[in-house]
Amino acid sequence: MSLGRYTTAAMTRLTVAIMVRSLKQALSAAAQAAERGADLVEFRIDEFASDLPAITALVDQSPLPSIITIRPTWEGGHYTGDDAGRIAAFEAACAGPRKPAYLDVELLAYQRSQPLRQAVDRLVDHPGQVNPTDTGLILSNHDFTTRPVDLYQRVEAMLAAPACRVMKVAWRARSLRDNVEAFQLIDQRHKPTIALCMGEEGLPSRVLARKFGGLLTYVALEEGAGTAPGQPTVGQMKSLYRWDALNADTRVYGVIGHPVGHSMSPAFHNAGFDAAGFNGIYLPLPIPPEYEHFKATVATWLDAKGLHFRGASVTIPHKQNLLRFVQERGGEVEPLSLRIGAANTLVVRDDGSLFACNTDYAAALDSVCDALHITRDGLRGQRIAVLGAGGAARAIVAGFAHYGATVVIYNRTHDKAIELAKEFNNAPTVTGGTARVVAAPMEKLCDSCCQVYINCTSVGMHPKIDQSPVPPEVAKGWAPGTVVFDTVYTPIETRLLREAKAAGCVTVPGIEMFVRQGADQSRRWTGMTPPIEALRKLVASRLGG
Ligand code: ATR
Repeated sequence: MSLGRYTTAAMTRLTVAIMVRSLKQALSAAAQAAERGADLVEFRIDEFASDLPAITALVDQSPLPSIITIRPTWEGGHYTGDDAGRIAAFEAACAGPRKPAYLDVELLAYQRSQPLRQAVDRLVDHPGQVNPTDTGLILSNHDFTTRPVDLYQRVEAMLAAPACRVMKVAWRARSLRDNVEAFQLIDQRHKPTIALCMGEEGLPSRVLARKFGGLLTYVALEEGAGTAPGQPTVGQMKSLYRWDALNADTRVYGVIGHPVGHSMSPAFHNAGFDAAGFNGIYLPLPIPPEYEHFKATVATWLDAKGLHFRGASVTIPHKQNLLRFVQERGGEVEPLSLRIGAANTLVVRDDGSLFACNTDYAAALDSVCDALHITRDGLRGQRIAVLGAGGAARAIVAGFAHYGATVVIYNRTHDKAIELAKEFNNAPTVTGGTARVVAAPMEKLCDSCCQVYINCTSVGMHPKIDQSPVPPEVAKGWAPGTVVFDTVYTPIETRLLREAKAAGCVTVPGIEMFVRQGADQSRRWTGMTPPIEALRKLVASRLGG
């Protein structure tokens, strides 16, 4: 068997998979696919395989080149008929003046059934073909539960079949690491290849198929219309995941967390990359909570040939894991992130070295400084009240104390406020002085006399939007011009902010911190300033503001 590399000039084709129910429905879906910029359609005729004249018409009238697939139930599809029925349907697909671009046949069926194999070989292009045709054969293998143990044997069998023009393997990703194996399979380039991972963890293989030069990737026309788990829609692929901008040099970023499915960060960062003309793509990267998962996955991605994994936003529950990982790999960690004990940003420098920092506290500092019309230096002498003593409060207390503000912590559980204050009080500040952080009981909030109040509790967050961490009579007593910042951003205007505004305070909504921490990450990755105002609008519109 020859294992020479084939070279490909063709772009990875965006292929809308359509479950065929009727000729009219399928043609209408194909027309919409063409309109939305797809290159190819896959007609899944699993449940339409007996209407032979309609199959011929479907291929003939399709506005886009087509793949004909009749997936049997034993390989995750819906076809329950026999081989004779499939043969008749494939023949019908090739009977009209226009032929399908490809027939997709499962490797196992092709190996097992001589009549099917002979019939398919008569219909597709291969070295021994006597009736010239452009239709190519995709031999495919799917595993909806895991990575098959004999994946490479299956690939070898596809490579060895002379009539097989394209090999396709698809399996349920066990973790993000499986994507890297899919990339390697494409990269070997012995034959045009489709290598995809299914499920949420498999999304990178679907999007980055274009970066690695896979023959095609499958998308759904609409949400819920997909033919396999994890297929994005054509619209998401084109706009959210920057399909048209992807190429072999594209740098890869993402949000690492668990869960990350509803994160706004992919929309935010991809829009930023778009606006800056930066050759990057940003993906949701779900990794289970334990450090071992984090370490193994991030290490595999960093080491993957040709992937250009250059950074990540890191969120719950991995903020501590990021610090540990970067230190173990001999990278650099921003000192204040170390003191906070959490970092949210990974930067992979051009020389491959790692850097971790925390853009959360920096975003909070700058949001408040802007509201006060001062620079960070001006924080010295300011008195800042922080409500809460959890993870969010910790980063903010550390940041303000580091820049010389006096920080007073109020928390429902007073002991936690005392603990947090103790930890950061007397820490070194940027000016070489020592930080001043104290705890005060919640009842004393009414006479705290601070210039700034920052809510770092979850009180007021959707769905409990009628709550506020500050009693209304306390908010009423705030002096006009007092700055009130709520880290809660669902809803955009919390009850706390509403009441503060009514008292004449200057309010800072939580999306300000989200936008700024993200913009800071983008700047660190791209070296360019992202369009903050446009990103602010994007976040506000996604939050319904
Ligand atoms: P995060 O990482 O978002 O800060 P966290 O570490 O769980 O989350 O901290 C949540 C903070 O919100 C805590 O300060 C918590 O107060 P306790 O330390 O007393 O638990 C505060 N919080 C949560 N629900 C609250 C409520 N209903 N009233 C007052 N404070 C509340």
